[in-house]
Amino acid sequence: MFTYKRLLKASTLAACGVAMLVSTAQEQVKLGQTISEASLAEFDLIAEPGGMGFPPGSGTARQGRTIFESRCALCHGNNGEGNSAATVLVGGNMQSTDSPLRTVGSYWPYASTVFDFIRRAMPANAPKSLTDEETYQVAAYVLYLNGLVAEDEIMNAQSLPQVRMPNAEGFIDQSHIQ
Ligand code: HEC
Repeated sequence: MFTYKRLLKASTLAACGVAMLVSTAQEQVKLGQTISEASLAEFDLIAEPGGMGFPPGSGTARQGRTIFESRCALCHGNNGEGNSAATVLVGGNMQSTDSPLRTVGSYWPYASTVFDFIRRAMPANAPKSLTDEETYQVAAYVLYLNGLVAEDEIMNAQSLPQVRMPNAEGFIDQSHIQ
């Protein structure tokens, strides 16, 4: 006979079964553990064109020269002339009818990317080994090599994103296209 009590018992059993399945699945998936604030800081390095995400600190190209010569020149040459097409940091011309040479000076639309990229990826043989202060100094030097800032101009969270890049207008904004 089908009683209300039996129905209750059956559905309770079913619910237990589902709960067991879920908990077994959770144990098997092993989704890891919550990242600590300290570990997150090593990845959360986005410095944006509008000035968000820049750390405290400052530096000039004059200070950056020594770091560039000891930590960067091996691959980029003393004056950013590079040792391969990928490592040229100065010059170039986006108006060229031949294949244009893309460099920080000729191609990059935002100065913030210079800081952001160096902080997360350079020197290529020891990424993230520069302090924030050294990153400001050497970013200032790369901008100076491109004739975009003066040797003693102080680069910090406020001034660096304001540096006007020659190719700033060279991109078409397609962010409205879904
Ligand atoms: C061991 C070699 C090496 C060293 C040392 C090195 N770089 Fe680089 N760098 C590269 C390579 C290779 C690329 C190209 C990477 C790519 O295209 O993904 C690059 C790219 C760059 C770019 C982007 C160029 C562009 O137009 O795409 C910048 C800026 C830069 N490096 C700055 C620096 C600075 C500043 C230092 C010193 C703190 C440094 N690099 C040290 C190898 C190096």
